[in-house]
Amino acid sequence: MTTVSKLQINYLDHVVGITEGPQFSWAIDTPFRNCRQKQYQIQIADEPSFASPLFDTGLVESNDSAQVRVPGFTPEEGIKYWARVKVVTEADGQGISTTPFSGSATILGGLKDPDSLKEHFITAETEEDIKLSKGTYLRKAISLKKEVKSAVIFSTAQGVYQLHLDGKKVSCDELAPGWTSYDHRLLYQSYDVTNMLSPGEHVLGVHLGSLWYKGTISFLMIHNFYGDYASLSLRMDVTYTDGSKETFYTDESWKGSYSPVLNSQLYDGEAYDASLEQEGWDNPEFNDDAWRTAKAVPCTSEHIEAQEGSPVALQEIMAPTLAFYTPKGERVIDFGQNMSALPEIRGQGKAGETIVLRCFEVLDKDGNVYTDNLRRAEQRITYTIKDDKPFVYRPYFTFFGFRFIHVESFPGRADLDNFKAYVIHSDMPQTGSFACSNPDLNQLQHNILWGLKSNFVDVPTDCPQRDERLGWTGDAQIFCQTASYNVNTYTFFKKWLKDLALDQTQEGGVPHVVPDVLYKYPFDNWLLNQGTHSATAWADAAIINPWVLYLTFGDTAILETQYESMKGWIDFMKTHAKNNIWNYKLQFGDWVALDAEEGSYFGATPNDLTCTAYYAYSTSLFVKIARILGKEAVAKEYEALYNNIVKTFQETFFNTDGTMTAQTQTAHILALHFNLAPKQFIAKTVENLKQLLAEHDGHLVTGFVGTPYFCHALSSNDCLDEAYALLLKDDFPSWLYQVKKGATTIWEHWDGIKPDGSMWSPDMNSFNHYAYGAIGEWLYRVVAGLNIDENEPGYKHTVIAPRIGGNLTWVEAAYQSVYGEVGIRWERESKSNVITLQATVPANTTATIRLLDGASLVDGDALTFAQRDDILEAEAGSGMYTIRYTLNS
Ligand code: BGC
Repeated sequence: MTTVSKLQINYLDHVVGITEGPQFSWAIDTPFRNCRQKQYQIQIADEPSFASPLFDTGLVESNDSAQVRVPGFTPEEGIKYWARVKVVTEADGQGISTTPFSGSATILGGLKDPDSLKEHFITAETEEDIKLSKGTYLRKAISLKKEVKSAVIFSTAQGVYQLHLDGKKVSCDELAPGWTSYDHRLLYQSYDVTNMLSPGEHVLGVHLGSLWYKGTISFLMIHNFYGDYASLSLRMDVTYTDGSKETFYTDESWKGSYSPVLNSQLYDGEAYDASLEQEGWDNPEFNDDAWRTAKAVPCTSEHIEAQEGSPVALQEIMAPTLAFYTPKGERVIDFGQNMSALPEIRGQGKAGETIVLRCFEVLDKDGNVYTDNLRRAEQRITYTIKDDKPFVYRPYFTFFGFRFIHVESFPGRADLDNFKAYVIHSDMPQTGSFACSNPDLNQLQHNILWGLKSNFVDVPTDCPQRDERLGWTGDAQIFCQTASYNVNTYTFFKKWLKDLALDQTQEGGVPHVVPDVLYKYPFDNWLLNQGTHSATAWADAAIINPWVLYLTFGDTAILETQYESMKGWIDFMKTHAKNNIWNYKLQFGDWVALDAEEGSYFGATPNDLTCTAYYAYSTSLFVKIARILGKEAVAKEYEALYNNIVKTFQETFFNTDGTMTAQTQTAHILALHFNLAPKQFIAKTVENLKQLLAEHDGHLVTGFVGTPYFCHALSSNDCLDEAYALLLKDDFPSWLYQVKKGATTIWEHWDGIKPDGSMWSPDMNSFNHYAYGAIGEWLYRVVAGLNIDENEPGYKHTVIAPRIGGNLTWVEAAYQSVYGEVGIRWERESKSNVITLQATVPANTTATIRLLDGASLVDGDALTFAQRDDILEAEAGSGMYTIRYTLNS
């Protein structure tokens, strides 16, 4: 039977806060091949039974099953909607068939005038608290006289907050409202609390902390970056069954108090004194006479906007695997996994006893606690016990990047059952999976995924442990495509890209970090002299990240939204380029490459070269984007610019004999991968790259810029064996070297831990940096062969083209696209050259199945394969196929 298996709205199952007509997409599930949609029908209702839908498109003749809009539908403020879809399809062996209606996806309409929340900020802090980061409570008792039909809370904080109603947390969100470029915008959350309210007395209770807003931030250790008071603005709309409505706001009738959180900071952790707990503070029975009245404070953001999805939330709970003493006698709890999480402590002791814990990533050479790489981040929990009863505690307003806990003090001996770790990250369903016959590669994939989870905490950060945790644009750019294979990144990056655009300079320069917390206080000499924006490969996130979202979801809306930002960035480069060579102030270049001079972070590839290569690449994408948006004149203008940059690149960075002026791996990788090598010199460039690889005994010495594309540059240029050899190297330096050293996430440095067990300098040695995890793209795209077709993006048409190699006997990858699962499995029949390829093409999409590397067909499973040079290729409609072929070698 054919059904609609997944309906999404703006790529989410549940979207909140929207005020504009959304985009619908759905997946069709069918056992029949060549299934195409002929018609669809969408219904939208304000209750889940759809008894009388508010909107019904009727059957619409269309094969669109993504980016579909319902004419006339715009969500109204505070109204919850249910949407469902059914489709008419035609498929082989089934003919025309109509599905039942799908399960429903929901929408909660956002505020018409979100800026109205600016008027309602209140705080429980006093002037003495300005420079502190304490926890505070705010509460308000309310009385409802009538039966409630629906109730919605719209709330936000300058700081971070947890919302309670009658003693219960309203959601499992953490660190709301998340981090945006607060000067420009702050996001509000929308919570449907209908089921929590009935006639009678209720209490709205809020626990507030400081974090990004006024706590210490960035390696410059600035506090009060955005403002002085942790404060809350809330509005609750109640609609009664008799049709009447009542609205409650935060105001000076609310009461406030300090909470037991004495200090809570992004880097330093949390200090909590349980003796200050106030039992039932968020319940109606609690007497708040002793509390002070809340004070109104101004909003420091220009605008308030809705958070539509992907909130940071608790995602999974990890139990520790080992408790032990180090040679130095330190008590350590090991979770076996590096992560971003909140430790939970359970125990029992005496009043006044203190528990002190430090969270950290790795043990040193001798197996002792190693915290030097945290730099100035304390990552410490200090918990004071209030009485002799059992207690449970989890920090409220921070998070930690760690695998181990050092128990500095505990009542009695701390053991496994005293601890758990609550993993937090932005809520982004996993979309991709990759597995193969090589366990080390599977561990690498695991590490990539955990690097992602640890660093997608509302903004894409560089690392979750030391005194940074900033939205470094380069890291986010480099990893974007790999991330988008593995999880649903749409809402997460859409939000971040909006902040990127808002933080751009007047001229279009793109900050090194977004939200930009480096520009305001340039008392740091390095930044003052060198600049806080517009570094190549970092700033290019402005173009590359929207492009990746477009490819992954087939969505032109993201290109439209980001258009001015993208153009601004290209124009910035154009303005500051000299005769098409782009370079500007502070450049990170091939950051942390191993060909850097001793002690330096800057790789050996000259900035003129890396900058101009990216200038060309980003301009080429911008030309495509302008064309997609129908801006032909712009496309032509920038195409001419692109051609000039390429010409200059070739004249400047290639000698007349075809060698490159820079003898680095990265220079050659960029020339090949960005199509910048003159045609007649491509073969030579490939040969030279192989030579540069051989000079290091087949090892890479590349940094952030060269590494992501190394295997591509080889495999796209007839060097598949070399690419696999590079991937599978497991001695220093290599991806699998980290795996062999027991890594559970991706390291910042190839030599984070050196072969002799010593460490790279602690000033820049994170063990949870996702950038080098960008190899994940090669695993999906080349090893498994799962390729997006630029001409029909969003997996409307997929190119399935696995490259068999590396002594792998099988590979399996799947991606949950908006249309449904695209799947690939290939297997080499024992010790032979016969490959069995299973491909799954989602309904209402098509695929090209390409058998490469000199294949001859054994069984095409009813597909018609045509020979093109040494490639066999077939066009496939939807369905599952099992193809057998032999490799020639
Ligand atoms: C970060 C990097 C970042 C870099 C800029 C570092 O401190 O951790 O990942 O991209 O600075 O070069």
